[in-house]
Amino acid sequence: MKALVTGGHGFIGSFLVERLLKEGFHVRCLVRKSSNLQWLKGLQQVELCYGDLTTPKSLPAACQGVEIIYHIAGTLTGANLDRYFSVNTQGTIDLLKATVQVAPNLKRFVFVSSVAAIGPSNHFQVSDETTPCQPVSIYGKSKLEAEKDLIQNFSHIPYTIIRPTIVYGPRDQHFLTFFKFAKRGIFPVPHPYERYYSIIHVSDLVDGIFQASQNERAVGQTYVMCNPEYYSFETMAQKLAAPFQNNPKFIPVPKFAIKLIGVAGDLHQWWTKKETMFNSQKLPEVTAAAWVYTPQKAMDELGFKIQTSLEEGARQTVAWYQKHKYL
Ligand SMILES: NC(=O)c1ccc[n+]([C@@H]2O[C@H](COP(=O)([O-])OP(=O)(O)OC[C@H]3O[C@@H](n4cnc5c(N)ncnc54)[C@H](OP(=O)(O)O)[C@@H]3O)[C@@H](O)[C@H]2O)c1
Repeated sequence: MKALVTGGHGFIGSFLVERLLKEGFHVRCLVRKSSNLQWLKGLQQVELCYGDLTTPKSLPAACQGVEIIYHIAGTLTGANLDRYFSVNTQGTIDLLKATVQVAPNLKRFVFVSSVAAIGPSNHFQVSDETTPCQPVSIYGKSKLEAEKDLIQNFSHIPYTIIRPTIVYGPRDQHFLTFFKFAKRGIFPVPHPYERYYSIIHVSDLVDGIFQASQNERAVGQTYVMCNPEYYSFETMAQKLAAPFQNNPKFIPVPKFAIKLIGVAGDLHQWWTKKETMFNSQKLPEVTAAAWVYTPQKAMDELGFKIQTSLEEGARQTVAWYQKHKYL
């Protein structure tokens, strides 16, 4: 089976690439000239195709003759409005257009979206695929627009949409800040800090993505993927910080201070022209009271299940960060 993986050199994508190689797939990755390919090093079987989601003419070569596309690439943090939409929305549309042109034998287009497309949970009710979408961030809106375009204009393509919650695990750079606080034993949290989250370990997500891509029932479907259990911020932080054995403290940060940090992120981005992990765009996500979801549909229809407990995932992730000198 010939597969194209976009974002195959990133955190989630690189684990998926390893899994596909184990399954005997021929894997092509869309990479940019500027991409860091460290996680693909040593995987000689991977074919690299240079291109960019924001350069439509570079995409047909990547899609040429593939039978399955795992569209994982996306911009998650720190981008401005234009960039979120040009990569996450327009980039997905242009990839779909290229697919229609040059991949006549396509069996599946798997789009990794996000629960940010649904938005935070309302009054602590667990959200699922039937929950009306009310994204609160530009990131969530850009993912939702891509989903809508896929469903409305490319329904003749056998697609599957995956919406992961927070993903953690070895190689991740986005949630690393959380582990840095865990190491110090101090978590600054927006006041009031009674917040609830769903989360998933990268290996469980990769299993779920692969299962969905191989199951005919998943054609034309959308799946939330996360642990069935959700946690208060305090419980999640205690479990993930357990390897440090330092009994973390929680420091409430007033909302105005969070806003200031967001503005500082905006200024830093404007000055350096580099994307920052946190800016004003992220405020509504950080201050929402609950991001809790159920993967029941994926469990019922795909046999999706969680194999990595939060405790085991934390132990493994911290060990990896320490070994690679991130912590
Ligand atoms: N991590 C999470 O908690 C989480 C949760 C829900 C959904 N997701 C979704 O999962 C996907 C993967 O996220 P991740 O955590 O693995 O992030 P990541 O490590 O930052 O990977 C993102 C990948 O997208 C690529 N990319 C960005 N802009 C691109 C462009 N214009 N053209 C081609 N490739 C581009 C990046 O390549 P470069 O190295 O060249 O920039 C990178 O390989 C994203 O779509 C994200 O929205 C992630």
